Amino acid sequence: MALITTENLRKVFPVRKRLFGGQEYVTAVDDVSFKIHRREVFGLVGESGSGKTTCGRLLLRLLEPTSGSIYYDGVDITKLTGRELLSFRRRVQMIFQNPYESLNPRFTVYDSVAEPLIIQRIADGEERRRRVIEALERVRLTPAESLLRRYPHELSGGQRQRVAIARALVTEPDFVVADEPVSMLDVSIRAGILNLMLDLRDDLDLTMLFITHDLAVARYMCDRIAVMHKGRIVELGSKEDVIENPQHPYTRALLSSVPRLHSLSKT
Ligand SMILES: Nc1ncnc2c1ncn2[C@@H]1O[C@H](COP(=O)(O)OP(=O)(O)OP(=O)(O)O)[C@@H](O)[C@H]1O
Ligand SMILES: [Mg+2]
Repeated sequence: MALITTENLRKVFPVRKRLFGGQEYVTAVDDVSFKIHRREVFGLVGESGSGKTTCGRLLLRLLEPTSGSIYYDGVDITKLTGRELLSFRRRVQMIFQNPYESLNPRFTVYDSVAEPLIIQRIADGEERRRRVIEALERVRLTPAESLLRRYPHELSGGQRQRVAIARALVTEPDFVVADEPVSMLDVSIRAGILNLMLDLRDDLDLTMLFITHDLAVARYMCDRIAVMHKGRIVELGSKEDVIENPQHPYTRALLSSVPRLHSLSKT
């Protein structure tokens, strides 16, 4: 069974009011249906504004859909409340594009990584500290003890993103939405972060929705790729099919604007 199934998912945002007349709306996600299999890296690609982030946020219930359903492990998450919602939140996490935004500048590395454990009331005292160190070691920030008291501004961009990943994984989620996780990073450190994410998928049995507008990155990371255009999925298939043999004119246009399909290598 798929871990995630969406059916006819739609999200409409009210935007500014016209000067005279009614409310205006933007349909960010328009009738989207797909499945994500367990331990799969499912890619969502498409130009800016095509609805990728909105789709990711819907899957984590950070946004309410306007209509449609989302089944997670067979349960419709759009109906969860209370304790069930809290336990769902523990099983899913998001990694953002910009670790400067996802990490509180006033929090030490320890505070940032420990916070999800505190919110979820998972561990305390020595056990909490042990889990934080384990999460930092998992993202290969070693020696972890020497980083615990550092602040985000004292870290390199790559280290900051690793801390953000450690924070996302400390509650041992089984589904992660990674929204453009390397696009703010220097090209020289991107491959290291991408390889880390693939290794974590293998080690922790993670399922991932990987959002990017970079087809080279999508080809490197994903098992299957869905191409979004104006809120709709216009093409969905294995990465080989989508990238080697695109069917939709929009996918071809997207591919023709990719300058460097060979620059990522396994390190
Ligand atoms: N909170 C919001 N309120 C109003 N409109 C929104 C909101 N969030 C997104 N939108 C609109 O929905 C559409 C899809 O946005 P979304 O952020 O999902 O696109 P995206 O594919 O992630 O783009 P990018 O590659 O730039 O991150 C856009 O037209 C955007 O302006
Ligand atoms: Mg986005």
